[in-house]
Amino acid sequence: MPSATDIVRLRVNGDLHQVGVPGHFTLLETLRYVVGLTGSKQGCDKGDCGACTVLLDGVPTLSCLTPVQDAEGREVVTVEGVANPDGPHPLQAEFDLHGAAQCGFCTPGILCSAAALLEQTSEPTREEIRDALAGNLCRCTGYAKIYDAVEAAAARMRKAAGSAKPKSDHHLRDDAQRRAGRAEEGVE
Ligand code: FES
Ligand code: FES
Repeated sequence: MPSATDIVRLRVNGDLHQVGVPGHFTLLETLRYVVGLTGSKQGCDKGDCGACTVLLDGVPTLSCLTPVQDAEGREVVTVEGVANPDGPHPLQAEFDLHGAAQCGFCTPGILCSAAALLEQTSEPTREEIRDALAGNLCRCTGYAKIYDAVEAAAARMRKAAGSAKPKSDHHLRDDAQRRAGRAEEGVE
């Protein structure tokens, strides 16, 4: 017997979707088979592997265990939304550099979990990285390269944040004094 169709409204990676789905669908099934975002992987489909991890209001969530109705009115971010508008997320760049993805099946879920961690802490310890990724299983890499890549991404983000910092009052005062000095010397 066909199951009843529900109309659900989802905000995924900033885009609004209003879709009709069988009432029993999970968030994962809706993302992959209705919305067409296949980055989140259907691994075990029972909460064991973490391949389906997405961010729900910023929190890593197993989308294979989440009824799609539970995601209504909340912000869903999938691996497709992890990248920055101007290029890959530092995590993606460092995973590439470190060879932290092999078959890649676990990678979308790991990137989502790691992105949430780096939102919370800019300098995670190895143990914090290990804890944050404890629900994401990888059968290929042995994890060391994944942890290295997350550490390197955190360092890259700290460096970017440091170089984007506004000048301190002290530096602004120095700049003003230098400009005044140049004006007195007739340079400006
Ligand atoms: S597919 Fe969801 S935990 Fe494995
Ligand atoms: S890279 Fe293959 S499962 Fe992780």
